[in-house]
Amino acid sequence: MSTQSTTIRWEQDRTGVVTLVLDDPSQSANTMNQAFRDSLAVITDRLEAEKDSIRGIIVTSAKKTFFAGGDLRDLIRVTPETAQDLFDGGMAIKRNLRRIETLGKPVVAAINGAALGGGYEIALACHHRVALDAPGSKIGCPEVTLGLLPGGGGVVRTVRLLGIADALLKVLLQGTQYNPRRALQNGLVDDVAATPDELLAKARAFIDANPESQQPWDKPGYRIPGGTPANPRFAANLPAFPANLRKQTGGAPYPAPRNILAAAVEGSQVDFETAQVIEARYFVELAAGQTSKNMIQAFFFDLQAVNSGANRPGGVEPRRVRRVAVLGAGMMGAGIAYSCARAGIDVVLKDVTQEAALKGKGYSEKLCAKAVSRGRTTQAKADELLARITPTADPQDVAGCDAVIEAVFENPELKHKVFQEIQHIVEPDALLCSNTSTLPITALAEGVERQADFIGLHFFSPVDKMPLVEIIKGERTGEQALARAFDLVRQIKKTPIVVNDSRGFFTSRVIGHFINEGVAMVGEGVEPASVEQAAAQAGYPAKVLSLMDELTLTLPRKIRNESRRAVEEAGGTWPTHPAEAVIDRMVDEFGRTGRSGGAGFYDYDESGKRTGLWPGLREHFTKPGYEIPFRDMQERMLFSEALDTVKLLEEGVLTSVADANIGSIFGIGFPGWTGGVLQYINGYEGGLAGFVARARELAERYGARFEPPALLVEKAEKGERFTDA
Ligand code: NAI
Repeated sequence: MSTQSTTIRWEQDRTGVVTLVLDDPSQSANTMNQAFRDSLAVITDRLEAEKDSIRGIIVTSAKKTFFAGGDLRDLIRVTPETAQDLFDGGMAIKRNLRRIETLGKPVVAAINGAALGGGYEIALACHHRVALDAPGSKIGCPEVTLGLLPGGGGVVRTVRLLGIADALLKVLLQGTQYNPRRALQNGLVDDVAATPDELLAKARAFIDANPESQQPWDKPGYRIPGGTPANPRFAANLPAFPANLRKQTGGAPYPAPRNILAAAVEGSQVDFETAQVIEARYFVELAAGQTSKNMIQAFFFDLQAVNSGANRPGGVEPRRVRRVAVLGAGMMGAGIAYSCARAGIDVVLKDVTQEAALKGKGYSEKLCAKAVSRGRTTQAKADELLARITPTADPQDVAGCDAVIEAVFENPELKHKVFQEIQHIVEPDALLCSNTSTLPITALAEGVERQADFIGLHFFSPVDKMPLVEIIKGERTGEQALARAFDLVRQIKKTPIVVNDSRGFFTSRVIGHFINEGVAMVGEGVEPASVEQAAAQAGYPAKVLSLMDELTLTLPRKIRNESRRAVEEAGGTWPTHPAEAVIDRMVDEFGRTGRSGGAGFYDYDESGKRTGLWPGLREHFTKPGYEIPFRDMQERMLFSEALDTVKLLEEGVLTSVADANIGSIFGIGFPGWTGGVLQYINGYEGGLAGFVARARELAERYGARFEPPALLVEKAEKGERFTDA
């Protein structure tokens, strides 16, 4: 161990206040790496040795972020064999933070930037927390979103600071990231400061006023706020937590919430030191498991790769869009207009009539009113946003637009027509995008003169909430257009994945397999409620039959018929899926077309609310007593999506593993615990070989569509994984 602190600077003033400046010279953010562990030990020794000359301690950081937390590059490599080292390292940090906390001197966290996870845990070990109200600054314990728990004392201290219920619901189980003001309202920090000077002044003021500060939990007679499970009144409420947990995970295999609950409840019934050990054990169990690896890979590494432009052509100067024409003010156009205006882009929202365009703008008005009423924005900002949207029916109004996003009906002739109408009115080099969800981009591009500037920009509904945009490169799309489309997606703060042209691209094609598999099971005779349950427990955010109803049953039919025609025209044979017959019967025999038609796999009341699965399903499809293993039901859905994704890689539609993983989770609801559709294969029991063997088993039982594609078999034989590296 080093005898020098390399990542924590010691600055002592004449009044005896020591400022510990977190400043790791080896990286842009401070993390809990080996150097930090060593530095913390050195600093703690020194604080104890020089205690008599110290009046108080301020912990702050020289980086933009106060402290970033655990080093995920280290954490993702933890195995059951190295788990003990992780435990020991974690306990060493905890012991040193505890020594500082109980030194008998006031300790203040001057949180100058984001303090998430380990950063907030360091602040929790301080007696007083002041946060700089800087834009973008976030505070909280998001570990659960990476399949982990705060293992640096975060569970132990939030429970003692806020009480079990608030600690679990406000901080630990959802991983909510608060801005400094909301962190203050929720008790995560004690004060906020408007400027860096005020931050330090407030920290000093606390030291002056509290020369012998202690944590509440170290004071005599301390009790956990709100009581502990040992208290009968609290115990009466405890059963609500497992129910809450089930609600949060839908019964899907997310081990982190379960461990967090256990660490909080068990830790509340023992002394502080024992609680720290309990927390460390539950943390290490999660870190050594597969789910946290999947989630760290997807939500940290893959997301970073995708957003940082691993797929953006280099050498093209970044450009910002100033004024965009959105053609079609329906559901998608209205949402796209809002997202663009929110990012500061002027929007010309064009529809066939002024009335339709106004209605489209009305959507933004509703969202703005809601945001103002919830305190998420001010009236002035909302007004500014709305003033950027010009509704119109006049094609001349798109003059000056440097980008176009078309979102008219899904009809190629109409799409050609609207582009022809505006292509000479917009800027001569305007980027031309279509939001088609299925039509091949190469053919759509034939409707415009500048095919190199034409590209697919596939948004997801509801646009204001969905973070993903799928960029589709047509055969003649130029590198300039691809780079500009990428920049536009980042400009509106969404996550871009890039794919090559193909019918249904990546997302629309792959989600079709999930739905088909669910519908096919109903057709085989499985109890429909079990099918829904299987989807929920696999971790899908939407149950499969309810999703089918939302999309409407006629849509897949239309897409299927078009696809079949295209395949047959090209001389191929269409692989008929068993779901097709079920959908045909639902529509043709029973007239049930989905939610918008008032009846689908579910019944609906007049207001469009689901009232239950249609009893007719059992009458016409279910075979009483027919059962297939629950695991098969879940894996049929997961495998069908994963296997086709591999085919998309083979076909060159997908070119990056990170794009596949991120696109599947953020675009089409592939369960997050898997780390995405290809990481699911990597992390499957027995790795790729295990996945291949299981796919063959499913193929044997349920049909050739589960046969593993050649690329998968080849990689499995070579002992490889799906990775971009
Ligand atoms: P929609 O039916 O809600 O809206 C279409 C709008 O286009 C209507 O307001 C219509 O008046 C307008 N329009 C028709 N002809 C026009 C013209 N000549 N000039 C200007 N506007 C015209 O449809 P939605 O759902 O918004 O879909 C639009 C496009 O987005 C389609 O290509 C669809 O495939 C695609 N898409 C839809 C998604 C969804 O979840 N609904 C998801 C992703 C893409």
